Amino acid sequence: MPNSERASGRRFDHDYGVTTHAVLFLTDLEPEAVGDAGAHATHYEAVPVADFRALLAHVPHEAIERSTFVDVGAGMGRAMLLASTYAFRQVYGIEVSPSLYEVAKENLAQARVPTRRCNDLRLVRDDARIAQYPPGDLVVFLFNPFDAEALRATLASIAGRRHAGETWILYHTPVERAELDGIANLTIVAEETYGIVART
Ligand SMILES: C[S@@+](CC[C@H](N)C(=O)[O-])C[C@H]1O[C@@H](n2cnc3c(N)ncnc32)[C@H](O)[C@@H]1O
Repeated sequence: MPNSERASGRRFDHDYGVTTHAVLFLTDLEPEAVGDAGAHATHYEAVPVADFRALLAHVPHEAIERSTFVDVGAGMGRAMLLASTYAFRQVYGIEVSPSLYEVAKENLAQARVPTRRCNDLRLVRDDARIAQYPPGDLVVFLFNPFDAEALRATLASIAGRRHAGETWILYHTPVERAELDGIANLTIVAEETYGIVART
């Protein structure tokens, strides 16, 4: 990670009064609790603040206002806290690791969010591959949480949600982006060096 990203991550933690800056491997944390998900997971790292905002800048304001933001692999909650500064209907996070879930829960409860626009934040401890996703329009955020097989299962669960609406996918470090090709009617809206934005 470049020094500038590390510095802005530390500044985020300082300004919001939280701890999100860390690099951790799930299998080192709690192999039994995460089970099979650990074999498919990458590692925990918080999203670079500027990249998150730049990806979200491709989503029109009207789409944000009618959507639930979903962080697939919420980690310590940085992306959820950043999303709460936008006018989403709800911010929803799914995290499989019990200890990261606990840290995120504490971070969400105690954060000083400078310009909060969404107050409805929900965090669940679950496996994103088989989780229930909120109905309606979604902005789905993925910061390279897992391998192709887990991504395929997760995309199928999202597509199969009740009362599905428009789905935006913001995929940072999209190493398994070929999996998106399997989604019907997918439009690539933007491609940056660090991530892609797509819509169905
Ligand atoms: C690179 S971190 C991203 C953290 C957060 N989204 C952010 O941007 O700050 C990926 C996260 O995905 C979680 N994860 C991996 N596999 C998962 C699964 N099957 N279900 C839910 N979370 C998972 C990891 O525990 C980790 O916290």
